[in-house]
Amino acid sequence: MKSCLTHLECAWCHETYEADQLINTCPACGKPLLARYDLDAAREAFPRQALAGRPPTLWRYAEMLPVCDPAYRLTLGEGFTPLLKLRHAGESLGLHNLYAKDEELNPTASFKARGLCMAVSRAAELGAKAVAIPTAGNAGSAMAAYASRVGLPAHIFVPQDVPAPFLAEMRALGAEVTLVDGLITDCARYVREGVEAGRWFDVSTLKEPYRVEGKKTMGYELAEQFDWTLPDVIVYPTGGGTGIVGMWKAFDEMERLGWIGAARPRMISVQSTGCAPIVRAFEQGTRTAAPWQEAETIAAGLRAPGAIGDFLILDALRESGGTAIAVPDEEILAAMRELGRLEGIFTAPEAAATLAALPHLVEAGAVQPDERIVLFLTGSGLKYTHLIR
Ligand SMILES: Cc1ncc(COP(=O)(O)O)c(C=O)c1O
Ligand SMILES: [Zn+2]
Repeated sequence: MKSCLTHLECAWCHETYEADQLINTCPACGKPLLARYDLDAAREAFPRQALAGRPPTLWRYAEMLPVCDPAYRLTLGEGFTPLLKLRHAGESLGLHNLYAKDEELNPTASFKARGLCMAVSRAAELGAKAVAIPTAGNAGSAMAAYASRVGLPAHIFVPQDVPAPFLAEMRALGAEVTLVDGLITDCARYVREGVEAGRWFDVSTLKEPYRVEGKKTMGYELAEQFDWTLPDVIVYPTGGGTGIVGMWKAFDEMERLGWIGAARPRMISVQSTGCAPIVRAFEQGTRTAAPWQEAETIAAGLRAPGAIGDFLILDALRESGGTAIAVPDEEILAAMRELGRLEGIFTAPEAAATLAALPHLVEAGAVQPDERIVLFLTGSGLKYTHLIR
C-alpha cells in the first residue's frame, strides 16, 4: 500500500510544487493546492480488486492518499460509513431510490473526521509542531482528536455561540479553545496571525492540500458501495465545500484508474437562505462567489460567508449539470424532525438541509422519481440538542 503521490498543483494557476513540504495555499496566486498522483502507476498497482479484505476505513484507498509512511496513517476508524436506503422519506416525496450516506458514524460524529484525519496525519508526517483551525464546531473536534492521536498541540478558534457539546468535546480531547466574538471568518484571522508568528500549521478548509484528500474518500466509497457505478444525483450541504470538490476529484481519479466509466452524478449544493454565497454565484453565473454579508443560520456549519474553493465548487456543480439551492432555517428544523421520525436518524441541521431541499428539487424537476439520489448526512444531531424542544 504505497502512496502514489507525486506533487501538488494549484487548482487556479496550475503551478506545480513538491509535495514533501509543509505548505498552505499556492505561493504564486493564493488559491488551493491539490494533490496529484502517478495514475499510470496506480492503474497497474492498484486494481479495485485489491480492496478485498482491507479494513473498512478510508485508509483502504491508501495508494490514492497522500500519507507515505504507514506509521503516520492515524486512525480512529474513520470512513466506510453506511449507505442507507431512505424508504419512508423517499416515498413521501415520490422518490423511489433515495439514499443517505450516514456520516455521523465517523469518529467525533461527523464527516469532518475524514478531512482532518488526512490533514493531521500528513502535517505530522511533514514535521508540523502544532495545528490550528477556525471552525463552526465539527472540524475543530475532529482536528483535536487526530492531533491527540499523534501528540500534536491543537489550537481551535470557534465563534462564541458554538453549542456547548462541541466545547466539551474539544476540551475533553485536549485542545486549547478560543471563543471568538464573530463568525468563522473572524476565527480565521486569529489562525493567520499565529501562522505569521510561527506558532502552528493552519489546517483551514482548502488552505492546505490534504483535507480534500480525506473528503474525496466519500466519492470512492460511493462507487464501491454502488458496485462501481455512481448515483444520478448527490445532494450536499455546502459551507467551505471540500466534500463536493473532493468527490468530484475522486470521480476523475477513479475513471483514470479504470474503476468507473465517464458517467457522473449531478452535484447539488444546499445552503441556508441566511448564508448562500454559492447559490447566489451559481444563479448569477459567476466563476467565484462574493462574500455573504451578515450570515445567520442555525446550521452553524453552513454559516461560511466565503469559500476559498468557491470556483472549484461552482465548476463541479456546472460541469455535472447540477444546481444550488438555499432553504430557510424553519424547513431545516422540520427536516431534522422528519428524518428522525421517518428514518431513525438524528441528524445535524446542516445535513437536514439536504432533505429540506428535496421537495423544492422535485417541484422544479431537478430530480426524477426513479433516479438514485444520495443525501450526505454529514453529522450527528446530538451536538445540536438545543434545536429540539
Ligand atoms: C455537519 C456539517 N455539515 C456540513 C458542513 C459544511 O461543510 P464544508 O464546510 O466542508 O462544506 C459542516 C461544517 O462545519 C458540518 O459541521
Ligand atoms: Zn496558483
